[in-house]
Amino acid sequence: MVQNLDNKEIFVTGGAGLIGSFLCDILLKSGYKVFVVDDFSKGQLKNLKHIESKIEIIEADLQDLSQTKKSLSKAKNIFHLASRAYGVGYSSKNHIETLIHNEKITNNLLEVFEVSKPDNLLITSSSCVYMDEGPDLIGERKLFENDPERVNRGYGWAKRFLEQKFLLLSEINNINLKIVRPFNIYGERYRWVGEYSSAIPMLVKRILDDEDPIYAWGSGNQRRSYMHAYDCSRIMLKIMEQRDKNITVNIGTKETVSIAEMVDLICKLSGKKPRIIFDTSKPEGRFIKSSDTKLLNSIFKEKIKTIEIEDGIRRMLGWYKNNF
Ligand SMILES: NC(=O)c1ccc[n+]([C@@H]2O[C@H](COP(=O)([O-])OP(=O)(O)OC[C@H]3O[C@@H](n4cnc5c(N)ncnc54)[C@H](O)[C@@H]3O)[C@@H](O)[C@H]2O)c1
Repeated sequence: MVQNLDNKEIFVTGGAGLIGSFLCDILLKSGYKVFVVDDFSKGQLKNLKHIESKIEIIEADLQDLSQTKKSLSKAKNIFHLASRAYGVGYSSKNHIETLIHNEKITNNLLEVFEVSKPDNLLITSSSCVYMDEGPDLIGERKLFENDPERVNRGYGWAKRFLEQKFLLLSEINNINLKIVRPFNIYGERYRWVGEYSSAIPMLVKRILDDEDPIYAWGSGNQRRSYMHAYDCSRIMLKIMEQRDKNITVNIGTKETVSIAEMVDLICKLSGKKPRIIFDTSKPEGRFIKSSDTKLLNSIFKEKIKTIEIEDGIRRMLGWYKNNF
């Protein structure tokens, strides 16, 4: 364990959300004292119900500077996950709103941390920082050669700004900074936000709702790297605990699943047989998004074992039963 994490107090912004709530479970199990800072705009108290008595929950909107100061100025170790993070149905139509929301949070954190000078920071960027052009297998490439992913342009720029601003902050103030760029993360604690939801919850709900036909975005041939939020969060803790001062690393799998294969899998596991129509008028984004895992595997010193996609989808079928 890294020495300056020894005071054992860790703050998780966005800790009531999908990835954040799994991270809180893992932090508690690892002996940390956990403080969640969330405005519950998308995160849910029910994600933390089972650990509510063991953690401290601070309700705060990090778009507001005074609430940011109040909730985070004493924090020394922080996982920063709070962000406006909806599915492509939202972000492809709301670039500026997404950019502004996330920039407000970034700037407030920057202002608070410039004074409080925390010891350890892990910030959650995204694979959307990568441009659409380039090889299928994505390494930790240089940014700013081109725009970020086009369907998520506002979100992608917000995450690029987040990275650049925190690199500057950490360099000036000698803060341990870890930057993670998750690919497609899913899981059963997802908060349903209707048409703005991400692809997997959207498909699971539509198929289990007996919609027929099922419309899926794009050709169906576009391939994505999927990882369960539990695995993403345990990887995040491992990265935070690294002694290397600054690390920027992808969190994703090299293996990909096409949208058509994903639809087939959900239908097979749920026993449904709707007609499937691929709507090519809708944006499908980059054709293949696969994560180069060389750096990640070198941190773990082996290939990381993660929840199989079939098991993850079974968990999502359970998510549907509990939520609708
Ligand atoms: N899920 C993915 O596929 C994925 C991929 C790449 C990056 N990420 C990033 O990982 C992080 C967590 O994602 P997630 O999937 O758990 O999303 P999520 O929406 O479930 O979690 C985000 C959390 O931030 C909170 N939040 C939003 N605005 C806030 C504000 N102004 N003040 C305080 N809290 C606020 C929400 O209530 C929510 O609990 C985000 O930064 C996201 O951009 C996610």
